[in-house]
Amino acid sequence: MKDPQRFIEEKVEEIKKVDGKAVVGCSGGVDSTVSAVLASKALGDDLLAVYVDTGYMRKNETEKIDNILKEMGVNHVVIDAREEFYDAMEGIVDPEEKRKIIGNKFIEVFEREAEKFDADYLVQGTIAPDWIESGDENRDTIKSHHNVGGLPEEMGLDLIEPLQDLYKNEVREVARELGLSTAEKQPFPGPGLAIRVIGEATPERTEIVREACHIVEMEINKAVEKGEMERPWQYFAVLLPVKTVGVQGDKRAYGHTIAIRAVQSLDAMTASFSKIPPEIMARISTKITNQMKDEVNRVVYDITNKPPGTIEWE
Ligand code: XMP
Repeated sequence: MKDPQRFIEEKVEEIKKVDGKAVVGCSGGVDSTVSAVLASKALGDDLLAVYVDTGYMRKNETEKIDNILKEMGVNHVVIDAREEFYDAMEGIVDPEEKRKIIGNKFIEVFEREAEKFDADYLVQGTIAPDWIESGDENRDTIKSHHNVGGLPEEMGLDLIEPLQDLYKNEVREVARELGLSTAEKQPFPGPGLAIRVIGEATPERTEIVREACHIVEMEINKAVEKGEMERPWQYFAVLLPVKTVGVQGDKRAYGHTIAIRAVQSLDAMTASFSKIPPEIMARISTKITNQMKDEVNRVVYDITNKPPGTIEWE
């Protein structure tokens, strides 16, 4: 991008022409946060950013996003919908069903807030690859991204999509220019940790994967900062529905299995597993089994590329 500052000024001027109030769903990701900040600069308190805590967010994520939006002066609400989501997910094991339930629940919760605010517009963080991959009359649908379709038609709101012509790296440039700490954030799927708990995503099982994901992120971040490895494109933990035998002290243990996934990719369409140095792998494994010794006694590493695997396990 030639001039991110100029892009920001132009978009803000463009959004200022809008007559009415707008809502934006802020997930904490780069795209939605940049969109929220741009719209907020243009509309002030006529914009409401809605952050929904689904219960499937990363550790400390809700507090982080709340603080970022506060710092940026974005008018926002944080909705604690954890119970509602956990109830809806009871007994659900099928990945596509998980996605559908979480997507629908999100719309329900979001609509409730938008109605209260009496919005006329919906700001979305759609970026160029979203609508390219989601297909139109000239293109096949490769993957229907959650940003495209569904929400606006149902809600009867007009769309504002300030990032629709940008690619991810350009959105990151704009985020840096805005001084957003989310600029370098790795991608995080809409359904969140629910698709990283293989099988039923109960609150207890989700807590295990949340802690394991946190450890993986912290250890890899540390190693990257020390120059010990390249930052993977995405890196996280998955809780498997397999218990295995181990030893704890001199006693037999029977605990959960965590798989670590780390990949290099450019666009998520293809990916190769990260060749993490063995010492770093050892640190991650030890940290998980020490800090989570009541739950986890085995850690494995996923060495599958995409294709034939996908990045997420569900
Ligand atoms: P896969 O697993 O398909 O993932 O190789 C490619 C990229 O997409 C993310 N992902 C999702 N993002 N909703 C999202 O918003 C989803 O349902 C979803 N599933 C996967 C994944 O994290 C990776 O970056």
